[in-house]
Parts: sequence; structure tokens; C-alpha cells
Amino acid sequence: MDQYVTGSIIKKLRERSTMTQLQLAELLNVSDKTISKWETGRGYPDIALLEPLARALQLSVTELLAGESISNTNRCFNMKRVKLYVCPICGNVILSTGEAAISCCGIMLPPVEAEPPDSVHTIHVEPMEDEYYVAVNHSMDKKHYISFVAAVKEDGYELKKLYPEGVAEARFKRSNIRKLYYYCNQHGLFQVPLTAGKGL
Ligand SMILES: [Fe+2]
Repeated sequence: MDQYVTGSIIKKLRERSTMTQLQLAELLNVSDKTISKWETGRGYPDIALLEPLARALQLSVTELLAGESISNTNRCFNMKRVKLYVCPICGNVILSTGEAAISCCGIMLPPVEAEPPDSVHTIHVEPMEDEYYVAVNHSMDKKHYISFVAAVKEDGYELKKLYPEGVAEARFKRSNIRKLYYYCNQHGLFQVPLTAGKGL
């Protein structure tokens, strides 16, 4: 917890709920003098009162401690905000659908920034029946290879792990794919947008 609830926050939230000190006191089974003490910084509500206090002010405890109502404008995750995290130690790949603090092998992972393809990391995408055939034109030797290709769709994603000395190819069901990502272990992440039904 960064900070405990302060008197000025209680006052601000109580006034916003258009409650008098007495009305709030009655809801909490304390005296209005106690509320006044909290609001003027001469005392703090006991920790056992935080939940009833939040409830009385129609907030969550988190919101009470933050001093404001937190409106989450994106309760549903959004595939447009996909971020990929790749662990440089074990190669773990983590996909998140929004901001996140991700750690792996004891280190914090920043989201990998995806670049458009360059001349040595080109990708071929071809619609084939109900699939996309995807091939990355790149070496696949043990030191330098494409380690995965991921298809981000409107409603999910699919990730294909690739292996050194294998082929840099993958197939994905065509439905709703919006973007393809592919990752070179030496040069990082590349992305290409995909228009429905079309190849590259
Ligand atoms: Fe590369």
C-alpha cells in the first residue's frame, strides 16, 4: 500500500457523496466527532474500518486509498493492444493484451518493440484454402533463427514455435487474423498487418 487513507481524501469523498459527517458516522457506528478527527488529520480510521468506509462511500478499498473512483475504460481486453515479451534467458514468450509487469528468469521484461520487415527478414504470406501459409525468408541455424511466428486475431492469437535447423514456416487458420509477428533471436520482433483474405 503506497499510502493510507488521508483526512482530506475522506472529506473529499464524503462531500462528493453528499453525506454529512453525522450520516457517515452512523453508517460506520462511530461518532461524528471521530469523522471530524479523521478529516482534520487528528487520527486515522482503524484498518478494520477501511472496508466499511469504502462501502459507505460506494467505492472499492483500492479507490478509497487512491482517493478517487477508478473507471476502467477497458475491462475487456483489447487485441489491438497486444504486447509481446520475450525472455532473453530461456526464450519464454508471453503475450499480454494490455500493460503488464512481466518478469521471467528473475528479470523484468520490457515489451518487445516490433519493427516492419527489413530486407533480411522478409515474410511471404499466401492464402491457401482456409489457411494462411507463412514463410519467413531467414536462416534457421542454431545461432541465428526465427523462434516463433504469431498470428493476432480479432478475438485471440495463435503462436507457432519454430526450431533451429527446422523450417521458418507456419500455417494459421485464416479467420480474423489482423497481424503477424515473427521473432528473430538476434534481430528482434517484426510485424506485418494483414488485410482479410489477402496475402503479402
Ligand atoms: Fe535475423
